[in-house]
Amino acid sequence: MDTIVVTGNGALNGQIPIAGAKNACLTLMPAALLSEDPLTLTNAPRLSDIRTMSDLLMSLGAEVTALKDGQVQAISCHDLSNHTADHGIVRKMRASILVLGPMLARDGHAIVSLPGGCEIGVRPVDLHLKALETLGAEMELKGGYVHAKAPHGLRGGVIDFPLVSVGATENALMAATLAKGTTVIKNAAREPEIVDLAICLRRMGAQIEGEGTSTITIQGVDRLNGATHPVVVDRIELGTYMLAPAITGGEVECLGGRRDLVAAFCDKLDEAGIEVSETETGLSVRRRDNCIRAVDVSTAPFPGFPTDLQAQMMALMATAEGTSVLEETIFENRFMHVPELSRMGAEIEVHGGTAKVTGVNRLKGAPVEATDLRASVSLILAGLAAEGDTIVSEVQHLDRGYEQVVEKLSAVGAKIERTHAQ
Ligand code: UD1
Repeated sequence: MDTIVVTGNGALNGQIPIAGAKNACLTLMPAALLSEDPLTLTNAPRLSDIRTMSDLLMSLGAEVTALKDGQVQAISCHDLSNHTADHGIVRKMRASILVLGPMLARDGHAIVSLPGGCEIGVRPVDLHLKALETLGAEMELKGGYVHAKAPHGLRGGVIDFPLVSVGATENALMAATLAKGTTVIKNAAREPEIVDLAICLRRMGAQIEGEGTSTITIQGVDRLNGATHPVVVDRIELGTYMLAPAITGGEVECLGGRRDLVAAFCDKLDEAGIEVSETETGLSVRRRDNCIRAVDVSTAPFPGFPTDLQAQMMALMATAEGTSVLEETIFENRFMHVPELSRMGAEIEVHGGTAKVTGVNRLKGAPVEATDLRASVSLILAGLAAEGDTIVSEVQHLDRGYEQVVEKLSAVGAKIERTHAQ
């Protein structure tokens, strides 16, 4: 397995281009299943999760062509030869469940493996299934697979989610575009990826109102056409790279960054003494003075502080002045980076869903293991600020969500190298 070695060497300066959003792309790609015409996605990120979704769509009979080194994904679902999403692919990536709603809406039947547990928590799919049942689907669980049927097509209904789920909102939204009549989704997720999906679906001819608020109304149509859609900027990659100059000093401009995508995160950076300014081409970040102040953070669905930036924020707080409390409210097992950060000298105590972090003067490089996607990048950030070498193993987690991390950080002056396993 490859490893990444980071050697803390002071301030970072320059520009980092931010890619298209992985999580948006992972729902836009299955949206192609809703039409017999091609969907072309531009500004797609070049990541292993995108290749996994592409493999899944191809296993269903779609033609997926990666152009411009993967930055353009052209997806044609004219003929679907298979309606079963196999466990072999689904187990690699939970977002595979997002093919269920579109396949069901288009052809009235689909079989999808249950994703099973994952490293950051139990993460059931009950809300996805209940939402599709509300639209008239019949569900049966057999041998680890969901068998879904809607022989007479889906029909509109009122879906009232008991808790906010990004994926379940996406599945329901996609399915409702082809259901007969009106669907109202209440307590819908408001994430920018949902807004991006709604914009793309509208380009394909769907009738949708209210995305970005907690009530989305969809008027079903008979068919959707093809479209070309640019994927929204990745707010999590953006937030991650905004933390790089925060933790090392210097000034970095994140190209393509938009404050509205990371407003709650910017507020916390401001409290911590980190200045974020809007430029013509993105967001520029630097410390206001030499000190990072401890701030408390609680994760929440958008527009709150994203759970996907909690691990990275903890790396910053590990070197802040004072004690901060980070509360994780979305996933029950999302502190796996804590023992690894502790190996680097961070002082962190975990009690249930909260972590108390007492900042230290300087972290120290150590061999550490990436345990999940966001945890792995928090170790890279910590390594940028640490004394000596931080050797991060299991970096395949990083490849799921960060393209060219070594190149992007080297370009702003970081000492970072990837060693390829023989
Ligand atoms: C998406 C993101 C992920 C992010 C998460 C929360 C993608 C591909 N992934 O994941 O990076 O961390 O949103 O912002 O977009 N839940 C249920 N039943 C369900 C579905 C969810 O109980 O059927 C629970 C989950 O266990 C979790 C909470 O709801 O506690 C929120 O999860 P959800 O918003 O669905 O996350 P994902 O869509 O899986």
